[in-house]
Amino acid sequence: MYVQSLTLRNFRNYERATITPDRGVTVFTGSNAQGKTNVLEALHLCCLGRSHRTARDEELIRWGEHRASVQLRTHHADGTHDVAILLDKTQKKKKTVRIGTRQAERIGELLGHMCGVLFSPEDLSIVKDGPAERRRFLDMQLSQLRPQYFYGLQRAVRTLNQRNALLREIAKNPSLLPTLDMWDEQLAQIGAQIARNRREAIAFLGEEAARAHASLTGGREALRLRYISQTEDAPDSAERLLSRMRAARQEDLRRMTTTVGVHRDDMGVTIDGKEARTFASQGQQRSAVLSLKLAQLEMAARETGEAPVLMLDDVMSELDPGRRRQLIERIDRVQTFVTCTDLSDLAGARQGMVYRVENGVLHA
Ligand SMILES: Nc1ncnc2c1ncn2[C@@H]1O[C@H](COP(=O)(O)OP(=O)(O)OP(=O)(O)O)[C@@H](O)[C@H]1O
Ligand SMILES: [Mg+2]
Repeated sequence: MYVQSLTLRNFRNYERATITPDRGVTVFTGSNAQGKTNVLEALHLCCLGRSHRTARDEELIRWGEHRASVQLRTHHADGTHDVAILLDKTQKKKKTVRIGTRQAERIGELLGHMCGVLFSPEDLSIVKDGPAERRRFLDMQLSQLRPQYFYGLQRAVRTLNQRNALLREIAKNPSLLPTLDMWDEQLAQIGAQIARNRREAIAFLGEEAARAHASLTGGREALRLRYISQTEDAPDSAERLLSRMRAARQEDLRRMTTTVGVHRDDMGVTIDGKEARTFASQGQQRSAVLSLKLAQLEMAARETGEAPVLMLDDVMSELDPGRRRQLIERIDRVQTFVTCTDLSDLAGARQGMVYRVENGVLHA
């Protein structure tokens, strides 16, 4: 698939901007704080209905304005898709999605119309930081590719919050204890679904990332991914999850929070058998992230049957020539949007349209 046009209205520092990229590489270049990342953020919003850098949608609305919109036209094997995301802080429903000319009932209907992989310097946190970052990585990828996963995840978060609220209630009113069974069963069912998807994703990403990493390091290093779950040997068994929850019940009641479940999952990343988070050098961590991103591209292509869009936010300048070459090889095969402060960072890459970004204005 590829993007045919993108129009921003009162989005971040853009009053109005339209791009009509070709199927190659579109470059956004300019000094710091001019609006380069904002364009990629708008594309990301079309992929998942949310920004990659904030959970607060109102931050996306241009200062002093009440409404913002992002309109996107993509081309797929089955034809043209038109979607729009409308943000309005004066309305009760602050975010709405339009598919074609119809207003969608749920944000999830957006999924599948735009499929992209974003790679930015902050992605180093996937390897470097805690489990939450890796869960987020998996959840974003799976949500984008499998709308059922997205809905399941929303249900899981709601159910978890309700169970935690009940645990606090029980502390005040112990007669409510029997109602906990129902929540445990629901959470175990949803959790098992989520776990099955995560297990599949990690298996596929693991193979692809291992391949990419071997090629990045000339076969010198072995990158491995593994699913880390509290129900280790059977992560997607609802029964197993339920019995682990039951075993932890006293602890949950005491701490008034749910200590067992997929919200505690992690994805192990090792290089030559050692945890990358603790033992890998900065350069090795960077290679591992790049391998994960390349694996993401492959997974998106396999699941949708079409090439996804690649978005690179200022990453070229941080890669050494070897890693840069690996990335440039992929750029040649998919529609790519790149930001950089210096065009020389893209030396060797196929360059298509170049926009100079200046204070929220795109100069072709
Ligand atoms: N809601 C908003 N309304 C108006 N301007 C905003 C809004 N949110 C952010 N900005 C402005 O957008 C600019 C940041 O844009 P962006 O992150 O795209 O910069 P950039 O060109 O990628 O810079 P860098 O090279 O430093 O990454 C900042 O100057 C910020 O003040
Ligand atoms: Mg930026």
